[in-house]
Amino acid sequence: MVLSANPGLDQISIIESPDMGDYLSSIPIIDLSSSSSPETIVQACKEFGFFKVINHGVSIDLVEKLEAEAVKFFAMPQSEKDKSGPSNPFGYGSKKIGRKGDVGWLEYLLIATNAEPFSESSIAFLRDSSSSSFSSALYDYISSMRKLNCQVLELMADGLQLEQRDTMSKLVQGSECDEIFRLNHYPLCPLPHEGFNGGLTGFGEHTDLHLISLLRSNSTSGLQIALSDGRWVLVPSDPEAFFINIGDSLQVLTNGRFRSVKHRVVANNLESRVSMIYFGGPPLAQRIAPLPELMEEGEQSLYKSFTWGEYKEAAYKTMLAAYRLEPFQL
Ligand code: OGA
Ligand code: NI
Repeated sequence: MVLSANPGLDQISIIESPDMGDYLSSIPIIDLSSSSSPETIVQACKEFGFFKVINHGVSIDLVEKLEAEAVKFFAMPQSEKDKSGPSNPFGYGSKKIGRKGDVGWLEYLLIATNAEPFSESSIAFLRDSSSSSFSSALYDYISSMRKLNCQVLELMADGLQLEQRDTMSKLVQGSECDEIFRLNHYPLCPLPHEGFNGGLTGFGEHTDLHLISLLRSNSTSGLQIALSDGRWVLVPSDPEAFFINIGDSLQVLTNGRFRSVKHRVVANNLESRVSMIYFGGPPLAQRIAPLPELMEEGEQSLYKSFTWGEYKEAAYKTMLAAYRLEPFQL
């Protein structure tokens, strides 16, 4: 598909809403203040590949500060935002996602947060002195995401009865780690006709590549996940919670026990959505293979051996909706 510099509306597909009854009413909730058992988290990872965490200890103040900075950034004139783009892949991007022609009704900032200062990930805007309040909100937010990422991975390790709690969390710690942060803004979208129940594709269906993704959004819904029977359900928003989804790497580390969940975002014509997603990944040279501690006697790996760097490179060559683990399956 050849795309113009600025994809037109006709290139963005529309999504009809599932029935309201398909709101995910039974979304697993994990209370990090301790009342949830590690078994509950494992159950959620197997069945949905998705859950919500509450009482996570991340200050709402810090979250709101970063959200306010993001809103300020996205409200700047297009010509200003364009100075930080086009996303290659880091920096500001609009409508185009990745290099393979995926388009959606959104704009975003993609930041490699393991590079310090963050501006080294070639984002003009972050080098600008007027953005220091943005940088400082970002540092604070990323620090708490690093903690939350490890905390969740350690609770999963408990639930999987791994002897070493840090078996997974140690893969995502240290300066060599491949850490990415994404701020997405889905502006109000036009509807194809009056009374249409749904919206434009904001972010097309995909699975995430890292171990887990930590997502926080404002009070606008739009996120949908696919259940194991293929049905799409809406996830009610909760700006005070974090939503965690399992990514491809953790599906492999658990030899398919955990499910890398397909998800997508639908934009709407009433309220804009702002989401922030933290992806904490391993170093590029890290081998991604089923954890030996987890394998039962005689159990074979479902996947060929590959490194995180190899996986990322292969995945970036495919469209968003591709089943990217397929070439690595045995
Ligand atoms: C993503 C993603 C969802 C959202 O960035 O990978 O799935 O709500 N985003 O923006
Ligand atoms: Ni995603």
